[in-house]
Amino acid sequence: MMNLSPATVRPALPGDLGAILDIEKSCRTVTWSAGAFVAELSGERSINLVALDENGTLCGFVFAALAADELEIYTLAVDPKFRRRGFATRLLRAAAEEARRRGAASVYLEVRSKNQPAQSLYLFLGFDIRWIRRKYYSDDGDDAIVMSADLDTVVPLHS
Ligand SMILES: CC(C)(COP(=O)(O)OP(=O)(O)OC[C@H]1O[C@@H](n2cnc3c(N)ncnc32)[C@H](O)[C@@H]1OP(=O)(O)O)[C@@H](O)C(=O)NCCC(=O)NCCS
Repeated sequence: MMNLSPATVRPALPGDLGAILDIEKSCRTVTWSAGAFVAELSGERSINLVALDENGTLCGFVFAALAADELEIYTLAVDPKFRRRGFATRLLRAAAEEARRRGAASVYLEVRSKNQPAQSLYLFLGFDIRWIRRKYYSDDGDDAIVMSADLDTVVPLHS
């Protein structure tokens, strides 16, 4: 069982944007713009969360949105310096819990077939592979794997 490090998960605020963009740039070649993050911050159906460590350092974020009774994960990243300490797990579980509170039943996302770490994370949290979208990503022609889970599977029983 993973020993989760102390962390706070709270809604993302406009003041978090600089730290979010720094993490975004350190994680990916194709990145969301500042404007894309800002647009999501004001979305009524959005669930946008950040994770802070015990010193208040912003370590990761998840941006997601509700559509009918589903939560779609748009983007998730953890600063490379803070990986394998349970931050993504905390972020996804907190987003799932909030989505469940707002009436959703399931969660889904797309992940690049080459992104093994993220697929391992989602399998660890109880997601299943639903289908593959061939050559979905225009930058490198990678396939997208669509994964989903019941929110009850992602949110631990005791929470
Ligand atoms: C994928 C990512 C968000 C994981 O963040 P994280 O905070 O390190 O994940 P966690 O610590 O919560 O990992 C939980 C479990 O997921 C699995 N996992 C996570 N990263 C893994 C990796 N690199 N290799 C294998 N398994 C991994 C493990 O089972 C892990 O448990 P363990 O550490 O006890 O073995 C992070 O690697 C990242 O930001 N990657 C770049 C951006 C990205 O790919 N985002 C997802 C786009 S769909």
